[in-house]
Amino acid sequence: MLKYDNNSGAKPFLKWAGGKSQLLTTIEDHFPEEIKKSKKIEKYFEVFVGGGALYFYLMNNYNVKEAYLYDINPELILTYNVIKNNPKELIELLCNLQEKYVPLEHDDRKEYYLKIRKSFNNDLIDFDFENYSDAHITRASQIIFMNKTCFNGLFRLNKKGEFNVPHGRYKNPLICDEKNIKAVSKKLKDTYIINGNYTVSEDLIDDNSLVYLDPPYRPISKKSSFTTYAGFEFTDTHQIELGEFYKRISDKGVKAILSNSDPKNEDETDNFFDDLYKDFTIDRVQAKRSINSNGKKRGLINEILVTNYDNLT
Ligand SMILES: C[S@@+](CC[C@H](N)C(=O)[O-])C[C@H]1O[C@@H](n2cnc3c(N)ncnc32)[C@H](O)[C@@H]1O
Repeated sequence: MLKYDNNSGAKPFLKWAGGKSQLLTTIEDHFPEEIKKSKKIEKYFEVFVGGGALYFYLMNNYNVKEAYLYDINPELILTYNVIKNNPKELIELLCNLQEKYVPLEHDDRKEYYLKIRKSFNNDLIDFDFENYSDAHITRASQIIFMNKTCFNGLFRLNKKGEFNVPHGRYKNPLICDEKNIKAVSKKLKDTYIINGNYTVSEDLIDDNSLVYLDPPYRPISKKSSFTTYAGFEFTDTHQIELGEFYKRISDKGVKAILSNSDPKNEDETDNFFDDLYKDFTIDRVQAKRSINSNGKKRGLINEILVTNYDNLT
């Protein structure tokens, strides 16, 4: 059950692969008891933020004193920053895109989408988050527009770094969600938003911190060679490095929760994560995911939640 829609009701403003909306209450069940009881978090870190499902849930339902969000994808972090700093200008651009796009017939919509996609791919910008220009705001509007109108809301770049997702088929997409952008902007005001590798967070994390780690999942199928995430590689070597990071922050007394796929869905003898996180608690939980390559068939599969504290009653 989702609990976004209370009070300020901020929710993820992008569809994002691996979004955790459906697992929120399961993840919350695995929180440290004292945090569940007090509903208070001194320092919250989400180091693979993506669409930020858990961040928004916590900002709506908990008293979060400080929050830090990280992602390696600069386009995503640009969009967070523009919503934080320039919600009004962004809303104006998005409403304009919506007014132009929605009344069109399918073929004209497709042409319009391809025009925006082309301009996004041609007009590269400097990702200087300190010095904003109109170009940053325009780019954020293009990212949100494409996310709402492309196939499956994917964010995918080809080898040349171009966004190459085809046009989707949504009857009445909400491109300009003014209410949510304003609500998100308010929540982000006191949040640090950082573009970079998750390890950049290490020095700031301390024993008052709750850390959620939701890396690109390890592919379940051995046949799949998919280990890149919008152009950012995440191979088994990266998973092992992340396991070492998890150990290091655990040694500091941090409370950390990590999610990943469960290789045992496909191969009962695959102990990759059981070995990597053998010093911690691994719980297997059920999630609804696409279970074949064309993404149409969905079913229940196990995922893992790793915690570094004992909390289950
Ligand atoms: C599974 S998604 C997170 C989904 C998110 N929890 C949600 O609810 O939408 C993983 C994210 O990690 C980011 N990422 C990949 N490699 C990274 C790295 N080395 N450091 C930080 N972020 C990374 C990707 O850009 C992606 O947004």
